Amino acid sequence: MDTESQLQPMPQHVAIIMDGNGRWAKQKGKIRTFGHKAGVDAVRASVSFAIKQKISALTLFAFSSENWNRPAEEVGVLMELFTLVLSSEVKKLHKNNVKLRIIGDTSRFDAKLVEKINKAQDLTASNTGLTLNIAANYGGRWDIVNASRNLCQQVIDGNMRVEDINEQVFQQYTCAQDLAAVDLLIRTGGEQRISNFLLWQLAYAELYFTEVFWPDFNEAEFSRAVTNFAERQRRFGLTGEQVSG
Ligand code: IPE
Ligand code: IPE
Ligand code: MG
Repeated sequence: MDTESQLQPMPQHVAIIMDGNGRWAKQKGKIRTFGHKAGVDAVRASVSFAIKQKISALTLFAFSSENWNRPAEEVGVLMELFTLVLSSEVKKLHKNNVKLRIIGDTSRFDAKLVEKINKAQDLTASNTGLTLNIAANYGGRWDIVNASRNLCQQVIDGNMRVEDINEQVFQQYTCAQDLAAVDLLIRTGGEQRISNFLLWQLAYAELYFTEVFWPDFNEAEFSRAVTNFAERQRRFGLTGEQVSG
């Protein structure tokens, strides 16, 4: 096979399911929350790689709508960590021209956290470098239902006709809005499932699963995923011959 002509360019939009913190900690004889704290370094490394490689958008799954059902103590530590990281990292992100967005149903977070989220989003809103989406209290089904509700409201209010709704318009009402579809989905921690992450946006994503637990994920591991992506042939329903011309 002529690999040279088949090489994919760099993925424009990468999404990551950051999984395996608890098992990483357990392996070390520590409590689960030790793994969540260690995972922050892997977030920094991934953001740094995305900036250097000029990836347009990075969407990180930090907390799912189902994760509320974990023990209260673990949820508490995760919320605390989220608040702390927002405070400590935003300045650096802004300096690096990163546009930060929190996607998900933030209405369930406490007022202090919501205020921090709004401030961080406002500060970085006009940045033109990497768009960094942090999915927090996010669920793919919620995103689709939420988009549908808002579209229905537009029709009821007379701002839109039913026949105006198409895939592009629908996409604008999801959390991803103007972002391109996900090119590459990475899941660490060995499980091979989507766990209600971006459902609409993953329609044609290339999927990459690694056994590496999230706290051990770093720039070298990210680079491995991107190299693997580069070797894929994306066909979008066409034949291999059509794509390779
Ligand atoms: C991912 O790691 C972080 C969150 C879901 C918040 P886990 O906490 O799911 O770690 P494992 O899968 O139990 O090892
Ligand atoms: C998915 O991981 C959610 C995040 C990484 C934030 P989970 O650990 O919650 O997924 P399941 O429960 O193994 O499917
Ligand atoms: Mg998990």
